[in-house]
Amino acid sequence: MSQSITIRRPDDWHLHLRDGAMMQTVLPETARHFARAIIMPNLVPPVVTAEDALAYRDRIDAALPDGADFTPLMTLYLTEQTDPDDVQAAFADGLIHAVKLYPAGATTNSQSGVRDFKNVRHVLEKMAEIGLPLCIHGEVTTHDVDIFDREQVFLETVLDPLRRDIPELKVTLEHITTSHGIDYVREASGDIAGTITTHHLMINRNHMLVGGIRPHYYCLPIVKRAEHQKALRAAATSGNPRFFLGTDSAPHLDGAKETACGCAGVFSAPNTMSCLAQVFEEEGALDKLEAFASLNGPARYGLAPNEATITLEKRDAPCTYPAKYDTPDGPLTLFDPGTPLHWHVL
Ligand code: DOR
Ligand code: ZN
Repeated sequence: MSQSITIRRPDDWHLHLRDGAMMQTVLPETARHFARAIIMPNLVPPVVTAEDALAYRDRIDAALPDGADFTPLMTLYLTEQTDPDDVQAAFADGLIHAVKLYPAGATTNSQSGVRDFKNVRHVLEKMAEIGLPLCIHGEVTTHDVDIFDREQVFLETVLDPLRRDIPELKVTLEHITTSHGIDYVREASGDIAGTITTHHLMINRNHMLVGGIRPHYYCLPIVKRAEHQKALRAAATSGNPRFFLGTDSAPHLDGAKETACGCAGVFSAPNTMSCLAQVFEEEGALDKLEAFASLNGPARYGLAPNEATITLEKRDAPCTYPAKYDTPDGPLTLFDPGTPLHWHVL
């Protein structure tokens, strides 16, 4: 007998849609399964003002396939020049749902991010006052900190002092990759939540580095030891409302990944729901999948969960997701979980 599970339609609380031809390729993949997504603003140039976000939202809407039921939830990229009044107006208009903080130099297209937190304090204070969430890429960028320690050091030296300084600020610690991040979000007082990606639930650094280097597993924050992966799986499947899905699906063309200095990012939008069902089944927690993918995120963002549902069915025959997607500029590789997936999205 086949096993199936029906849950409310999921949302993705951290997604890179890019622009132009790449967006044309990846947007239908997200819209197929997800009702809404928090759209990352790290375009080149970044989405900094309300005007930028409005124009980007229009481009996304125009690229949606006919009949798609998908709502992009826009964000602004925080810079040291960000105008708090512009942010406030964009939030009041319902245009934006969060502001994104990239420490300058932390990751792809983060050069315009924050170098000195003193220079954005007035924006963060305004956000705390109006209840607008701050999504944080939680890694320090100082060269003397090892890349595998950058999340942990960020918690101690940046995030905790910042939250003590502005305790009313609503913070989402994004793409948590360590047990330290999990412990912090679980135990901290005040208004904090965290997202977890699909790939960090499925792989650890051995998958990326043992037996050869696999550039399609390279992302930031970088995948950590297996013990951290275990902590992420425990948190995601716990049902704790502070944890929810943000895929961080981040497409880069194969040419940019398979090279001497490859880009960070894993493209996981098409097969994420099949991967998650497998993870939750392995953890004996299929009954918590809906909380993680469809309930905790909207509750955190003050939105109603989706009324529509999706059904996943476990079959003997594995899913047949394409290994690669063609874009007009070249191929794009899908996240390979390294194991056959049996949960089909109907
Ligand atoms: O792996 C990543 N890719 N991490 C990020 O923070 C950015 C993203 C991208 O935009 O490619
Ligand atoms: Zn991201």
